[in-house]
Amino acid sequence: MPLQIIRDDITRVKCDAIVNAANSKLRGGGGVDGAIHNAAGPGLHEECMTLGGCKVGFAIITKGYNLPCKYVIHAVGPHWFNGKFGEAEQLASCYRESLRLAKEYGCESVAFPLISTGAFGYPKDQALQIAISEISRFLLETDMLVFVVVYDKDGFQISKKLISDIAEYIDECYVEAHYYGRSTVLNTFPLDDAYYQKSAAIPQAPSIAHSKPLQSQSLDDLISTIDESFSQMLLRKIDEKGISDSECYKKANIDRKLFSKIRSDINYKPSKTTAIAFAIALELPLDETKDMLMKAGYALSHRNKFDIIIEYFIKMGNYDVFEINEALFAFDQSLLGGIKA
Ligand code: APR
Repeated sequence: MPLQIIRDDITRVKCDAIVNAANSKLRGGGGVDGAIHNAAGPGLHEECMTLGGCKVGFAIITKGYNLPCKYVIHAVGPHWFNGKFGEAEQLASCYRESLRLAKEYGCESVAFPLISTGAFGYPKDQALQIAISEISRFLLETDMLVFVVVYDKDGFQISKKLISDIAEYIDECYVEAHYYGRSTVLNTFPLDDAYYQKSAAIPQAPSIAHSKPLQSQSLDDLISTIDESFSQMLLRKIDEKGISDSECYKKANIDRKLFSKIRSDINYKPSKTTAIAFAIALELPLDETKDMLMKAGYALSHRNKFDIIIEYFIKMGNYDVFEINEALFAFDQSLLGGIKA
């Protein structure tokens, strides 16, 4: 099941387990720890005091008491010094251990705060990378719905370089849309050399293994695809790629049940974000992504930030749905995948 980044107070998230950013004595404290203890009531503190603490990089599970979850998993993250004291491995271990416990206790859903990024001072962009990479690796093997809960959006940072590259690309595309818009009316708006040089500088996608080169497709093959539905196109592309259904829906960050619905209904109409998630999972180039979207009744436009960000990643040849979601989240856009149509 998928990974979702949400902005909320973790004590309000309804799922089987929430993770606490605890200290090694499990005594409670401020930040998310304080909020969880307050919402859970004194029973949580009493249980914690019977556990004998927990080492950095490890996690321990308790009941959820008054919280809307069955369990609280208390993970002890590292203090950040300068990154040279094994902090990354300890933080990664917190995520692995918490997920292992969630699985052992039969949880179908779990929510994480960004462990160590408050009082313990871990840089948020690096901590987020570790969270996403550990969770997505876990989800390749296990069906679970995992939330990363970001509390204060202001503190949320993805790589500054990525943000500025995307922002620049958005600006360029808006300029382009603006020019096209005016030139259709005035027909007197030549794009100058600087514009073309800038456009040429936009990196192109490295070659990706596409199953069937265009020239090898017969005209009959092409004609036979004209009337195919979104679902038929998706299944054909999965076959052509030689990947399994589960590889595809996991890479798309799509829930298995939703995939089954699409598989069994040839006229299924997915949401735009679901359709794009599959195009990303299949690593389709831009023209094929547009074809696939058209089957579902959508298009990509340069007047829409969401569409431009998707186009940016496709042009960069970056088909990592979790990285794309981080960027979409940073720009306040809807995320790809999930459990809804
Ligand atoms: N829901 C979700 N996230 C929250 C909430 C909340 N209610 N409150 C705070 N956060 C976010 C913070 O914005 C930060 O990004 O959780 C992240 C972790 O911050 P801290 O709670 O300070 O946790 P951490 O950095 O791991 O420090 C742990 O602080 O409270 C003490 O007892 C705790 O000693 C331990 C230390």
